[in-house]
Amino acid sequence: TEIDIDAEDLDLGGYPHYMAKEIQEQPESVERIIRGRLDDRFGVARLDGLNLTPRELRGFARVKILGCGSAYYVGQIGATMIEELARIPADAEAASEFRYRNPIIEADTLYIAVSQSGETIDTAFAVEEIKRKGGRVVGLVNVVGSTIARACEGGVYLHAGPEIAVASTKALTNMAVGFALIALALGRVRDLSNADGQRIIDAVRALPGQIKAILDFEPEIAEHAKTVAAAKSLFFVGRVRGYPVAREGAQKFKEISYRHAEAYQTSELKHGPLALIDEALPTVAVVPSDELTERNLAAVQQIKARGGAVLAVTHADVDFGELDVPRIVVPKTEPELDPILLTIPLQLLAYHAALTLGYDIDKPRNLAKSVTVE
Ligand code: G6P
Repeated sequence: TEIDIDAEDLDLGGYPHYMAKEIQEQPESVERIIRGRLDDRFGVARLDGLNLTPRELRGFARVKILGCGSAYYVGQIGATMIEELARIPADAEAASEFRYRNPIIEADTLYIAVSQSGETIDTAFAVEEIKRKGGRVVGLVNVVGSTIARACEGGVYLHAGPEIAVASTKALTNMAVGFALIALALGRVRDLSNADGQRIIDAVRALPGQIKAILDFEPEIAEHAKTVAAAKSLFFVGRVRGYPVAREGAQKFKEISYRHAEAYQTSELKHGPLALIDEALPTVAVVPSDELTERNLAAVQQIKARGGAVLAVTHADVDFGELDVPRIVVPKTEPELDPILLTIPLQLLAYHAALTLGYDIDKPRNLAKSVTVE
């Protein structure tokens, strides 16, 4: 007798979609990117693959991060971490724009190309442009031996494992963790103390357990998703560390639920888009417990005062007072690393919204897993 086995079903390991499987794999995939890379004696990350001596690491005056789509948004999370921990000016740009604008390449800038597949043509061309002009470029790439990984002069492999769903989840989380490690390495050849380095190392080590705790809230997040999926259009807002989290949250939502989702800096709401707020336009607000909590709460209050519904992604100790705001509570890590965990419930929110709406979660219309042609 023949047994009818579908290879895809096997790979799914009992999950209904690759995206669901890949979201659940995150505690283990984060373990893999940190394995062997944390040095407790000196409170630093060991990233031998970067192929940079301490003197070279010390010599960079700036960091420029390049990627496309979600990799670009995580690049923005990374830039903030690098500025905070290493105090070097850092920013992220869409590689698809960078490559077409005759970019100024500086010898004392560290360029970091970020890509899950390592095959995205816009990112690969940005790397070639940097190299052609004599810039130093390293990769933060998942697929070993891929075009971008080979083109870069060094890098940090993500070790997230194969990612099948078009909407990236575990690779993105590992990108964010990879940036924490790079920020640590850049910080510890500068003014970040051993004790501060150790503070970050301990926090990085705790991430897998904290991610597990977030995933345990999936049923609750699924309920929130049903509510937000009913809206035709929504805002995702965040401030400073929270802004790239909001951008990535909106991106996931657009990609698989086909709903209009617009990310905005919470601080900029009052400079225009507040005019759009009404009962029909809900907002997902990133409200971490940090030095900006009060300002974020004031913005939530302004949205509520205009009849807008708010769903907050927040920490347990944030006091919403009288504000009637449903919440997704995320475990607290060190403030610099908060974006890593704040992003995770937004994956589940997008997933369950798409599930509610009945869309093709792993292969959304009009999108490819990696865009390798012009
Ligand atoms: C495509 C995918 C996005 C992804 C982007 C970058 O546009 O649809 O989900 O973020 O490529 O992919 P990469 O493999 O370079 O990270």
